[in-house]
Amino acid sequence: MMKNYRLALLPGDGIGKEVIPAAVEVLKATRKGFAVSFEPFDWGCEYYLRHGRMMPEDGIETLRPFDAILLGAIGHPAVPDHISLRDLLLRIRFEFDLYVNLRPVEMLPGLEMTLRAKRPQDVNMLFVRENTEGEYAGVGGRFKRGTPDEVAIQESVFTRKGVERVVRYAFQQAQRRPRKRLASATKSNAMQYAMVMWDEAVRGVAAEFPDVSVSSYHVDALAARMITHPESLDVVVGSNLFADILTDLGSALQGSLGLAASANLNPTERRGPPVFEPVHGSAPDIAGRGIANPIAAIWAAAMLLEHLGEAAAAARMMSALRAVIADAKVRTPDLGGKNSTQEFASAVVKQLRA
Ligand code: NAD
Ligand code: IPM
Ligand code: MN
Repeated sequence: MMKNYRLALLPGDGIGKEVIPAAVEVLKATRKGFAVSFEPFDWGCEYYLRHGRMMPEDGIETLRPFDAILLGAIGHPAVPDHISLRDLLLRIRFEFDLYVNLRPVEMLPGLEMTLRAKRPQDVNMLFVRENTEGEYAGVGGRFKRGTPDEVAIQESVFTRKGVERVVRYAFQQAQRRPRKRLASATKSNAMQYAMVMWDEAVRGVAAEFPDVSVSSYHVDALAARMITHPESLDVVVGSNLFADILTDLGSALQGSLGLAASANLNPTERRGPPVFEPVHGSAPDIAGRGIANPIAAIWAAAMLLEHLGEAAAAARMMSALRAVIADAKVRTPDLGGKNSTQEFASAVVKQLRA
């Protein structure tokens, strides 16, 4: 019997509603030998403005049985970001315990190098971002609010189990790559509890992977190294906030925020479906104009196929995407071109059918 995958679509807000249809169009053209059904959900900030919440009360339970989720972006100027993101995106990551946020930072041949002194092969990193705790734990509070004596406390929460599991996954990824190198983003020179434990966990897990060479870099120096010596970096593991920042920097190395894709995974147990999404946000500055770059969303959809076990389809999708990029005729404005989101998606579909 032919496999049928059930995908939940959460385009969300702003350009999420433009790049997800583009990725779905490409996904549909890639299907061969298996079926995919799509169920769209209109949850997000407009839903919030109508209903006073980001998703229905049983939203998490509604999503749980799906095979995967393809998400655009959340965020709208009329809704505070700390409400919209925490009640939808972060909630899904936390409730489904998607503790790995996997973010490739790679050059697609044909794109101009941001770093003119470097070659495309010099930028090939895989970020493994901790995705369920750390600086995003949401523990804290405000005291004497609105007075000159106001106090705000935002605690980071690092657990031995939480650090070890993401670090172990990063070592496994490094072991599968030709260079077998892992860099850990730390800040143990200033953060004497959490980051010293982080470093200890890295050293402990390293013993299980004698064939992987591991280096710890303070996160500030690591940011500089990404620019000065990107070729020295292979797999990089970092906390929720550190790797959030470093991966937007990574997208700038690739050439645009519109290129960076990500997968939110739980590689060891299933508490819910994995989530695939571009790294970028809802980009209110360009939303509604049909000019957002859909490459990140298409790449995320290819990661989704790969994760479902449809490696051949994922490879077909990526090679069509690569061919259109290498051809250099169709480019959205963030890459210096004049084409629309839709024109780019159509070019990839045409390439798939060629
Ligand atoms: P952003 O990523 O939305 O935009 C930053 C800049 O990059 C903007 O100038 C934007 O036009 C450009 N850009 C981003 N994606 C692009 C694309 N695909 N094509 C062309 N240009 C692109 O970040 P921001 O401005 O800090 O955030 C805007 C909103 O998105 C906020 O509400 C924020 O909280 C939210 N956000 C959501 C997610 C998510 O849902 N995963 C991620 C990041 C930010
Ligand atoms: C990302 C985003 C989110 C994050 C925000 C919007 C909460 O920036 O996916 O990188 O920080 O995780
Ligand atoms: Mn981010």
